[in-house]
Amino acid sequence: MLHSSFFSQSCYLIFFFLITIAPLGTSCSTILSGISNDIIDQTCEKCANQSIILSYSLCSTSLQAIPVSHATNLQGLALIALELALQNATDTLSRIQVLLNSTDFDNFALACLKDCFQLYTDAAWTIAHSLGAFLSENYEITKTWTSGVMETAATCQEGFGEKKGGVSPLTKENYNLFQLCGIALCIIHMFTLAVPS
Ligand SMILES: *[C@@H]1O[C@H](CO)[C@@H](O)[C@H](O)[C@H]1NC(C)=O
Ligand SMILES: *[C@@H]1O[C@H](CO)[C@@H](O)[C@H](O)[C@H]1NC(C)=O
Ligand SMILES: *[C@@H]1O[C@H](CO)[C@@H](O)[C@H](O)[C@H]1NC(C)=O
Repeated sequence: MLHSSFFSQSCYLIFFFLITIAPLGTSCSTILSGISNDIIDQTCEKCANQSIILSYSLCSTSLQAIPVSHATNLQGLALIALELALQNATDTLSRIQVLLNSTDFDNFALACLKDCFQLYTDAAWTIAHSLGAFLSENYEITKTWTSGVMETAATCQEGFGEKKGGVSPLTKENYNLFQLCGIALCIIHMFTLAVPS
């Protein structure tokens, strides 16, 4: 099934990442008690400072909720943001399926929900492939695809507004996906700018 394969793929990627970048000889407890939240706070503050659309609080609460990100570098934080975005997108696909089944929506809203289902299906695939590109250090491709996903979230949201008085039942989901991809993008910018290309 679509969702479980995304989840196992993303677990695999986290695992791959951990065994690849964890310095040799670092014990698990060192990794988990790690470097403190300073890097998260500083990074989120910088991103929120640089962009009026990015939320500091969403950034720091999202990244801090994942124990792995307490002990990582900028690359690790960007990867966590992409992982969270993938999970968000697949969770939203399930939610849209539930909404499509409900009797709460008129035909216009149902048509928008169907569009969003297609948009989120594409978004989930794009994020999964962005993760692959990221792990291959193809950061330019990762950035292009990740900003495409931000547009996708905006497109889903705008669909509902095309009818007067239309209210999106996916406002929170679109916002979260937009923010998580924006955070990933901001962090990738930070460490790719530091490296001459
Ligand atoms: C963010 O902006 C505030 C206010 O301008 C400044 O005090 C702070 O040092 C900035 N933080 C970072 C990490 O750049
Ligand atoms: C999506 O991401 C946001 C921000 O990290 C989080 O608060 C929310 O619980 C996530 N939602 C789902 C459905 O995974
Ligand atoms: C939608 O409704 C059908 C028929 O009642 C049911 O079989 C299906 O499991 C429901 N799907 C979801 C995602 O709730």
